[in-house]
Amino acid sequence: MTEPSATFLLFGATGDLARRMIFPSLYNLHADGLLPEDFLIVASGRSEMDDDAFREDVDAALQQFLGDRYTAELAGSFLPMICYQPVEAGNADQLAALAERIDGRAERGLSVYLSTPPSLFAPTAQGLADAGLIRPDTRIAMEKPIGKDLASSKAVNDGIGALFDESQIFRVDHYLGKETVQNLLALRFGNVMFEPLWNATAIDHVQITVGETVGLEGRVSYYDGVGALRDMVQNHMLQILSIIAMEPPARMDPTAVRDEKVKALRSLRPMTGETVKTHSVRGQYTPGAVCGQIVTGYADELGQPSDTETFVALKAHIDNWRWQGVPFYLRTGKRMPARQSEIVIQFKPVRHSIFGRDGHGTGLEPNTMVIRLQPEEYIRLQIMSKRPGLERQVRLEEVTLDVSLTAAFAGQRRRIAYERLILDLLAGDQTLFVRRDEVEAQWTWIDSIIEGWKDANMKPAPYSSGNWGPSSAIALIERDGASWHD
Ligand code: BG6
Repeated sequence: MTEPSATFLLFGATGDLARRMIFPSLYNLHADGLLPEDFLIVASGRSEMDDDAFREDVDAALQQFLGDRYTAELAGSFLPMICYQPVEAGNADQLAALAERIDGRAERGLSVYLSTPPSLFAPTAQGLADAGLIRPDTRIAMEKPIGKDLASSKAVNDGIGALFDESQIFRVDHYLGKETVQNLLALRFGNVMFEPLWNATAIDHVQITVGETVGLEGRVSYYDGVGALRDMVQNHMLQILSIIAMEPPARMDPTAVRDEKVKALRSLRPMTGETVKTHSVRGQYTPGAVCGQIVTGYADELGQPSDTETFVALKAHIDNWRWQGVPFYLRTGKRMPARQSEIVIQFKPVRHSIFGRDGHGTGLEPNTMVIRLQPEEYIRLQIMSKRPGLERQVRLEEVTLDVSLTAAFAGQRRRIAYERLILDLLAGDQTLFVRRDEVEAQWTWIDSIIEGWKDANMKPAPYSSGNWGPSSAIALIERDGASWHD
């Protein structure tokens, strides 16, 4: 691995993501002394502003989003690292001024971060090339969405790929920066007891839920026409699925890990106009109450009716040896009753019950493992235990083996996902970034669902805000004799 980049060039620097996540993350890295010496952040956006005005904006954002972590003293040493250069795509003079800011530094490593709409990715990259800023060791990071289907994602990747080698491209999925998602690797491959059971012999099904209480939040122009399937499943949820489902990589390195993830993603069974009817549910929220607050419906927020789904539930199959016959149920939605992301591993019943006939009436239940990713972080394993007492027949009851990660690592500050990702970008470590073939495998499966919906003319079903989607989402899993873990 090379020396960390000495310059960070951020496009889209006046945007929401930059204010909420990227600058607070850079500040935290600075506070912990993790940024290279003589580090320069070149921020770029379309608005005309000078360095001082931009630093004031960043200062306000830091105060707003960092809470107690903000101190005037640290901000005082952080803000001078930032300079601002307005750039409109295609404006050669502004690009020349940008190059001027970076002059003499690119050879000490330049990491470029595109936090702009994807339509600007290729033009921005071309502008960098024209300004002579791309070297073999220059890195470029891109935010999602990378396309809206396989064909458009290929076009985006081709545009960037014409100027950068894959080893220089860092596709961001911020879920991979979350400590709890990385912890899935530790759980599976750092313990001897789970891996032998991690397959169709012992596991009945897997559930992955990412529930959000928020609605559109002023993101109408982005969200409408995109929907929950593209916004959440195509990236975050399929990344989680790939980590749960993949074979053990030989080592923790970018090639080994991503090789295994892509194999799992490619094994997803495509859907059709027929299977979407029983294997998928689309929903859209209507007025209701979330966490005690009355909220309006999606169409009201939008100001017109729409066919965009704000909820999706899917029954996925991974057609390989390990997962044959094990459904993966996925669901995600806006305006759910709780912000809650978790993975449930539902084990099969014991092969033979010694406690009465088939265990009936004894309380015997199959084991369940719940891995809560957010807001709390824990791993809970429901195991059977004898209820104390003198009854002649053994009575069993579920007890919980509870590992609270928040409590176990109480002294450790919880990091913003972007801190990990920015640090890895600067260091050139691609393990937690998405490779082109992964994105394309993800889109291939998502496209099959979108095509299926078109063929079957499936529109979103309404659900009242504050519910776990339409009732058909319950039927999707209950038909198989299972139920969602709420
Ligand atoms: C983003 C989606 O990628 O992830 C948003 O575009 C969603 O719609 C967000 O709200 C969820 O991220 P987190 O980290 O809050 O779970």
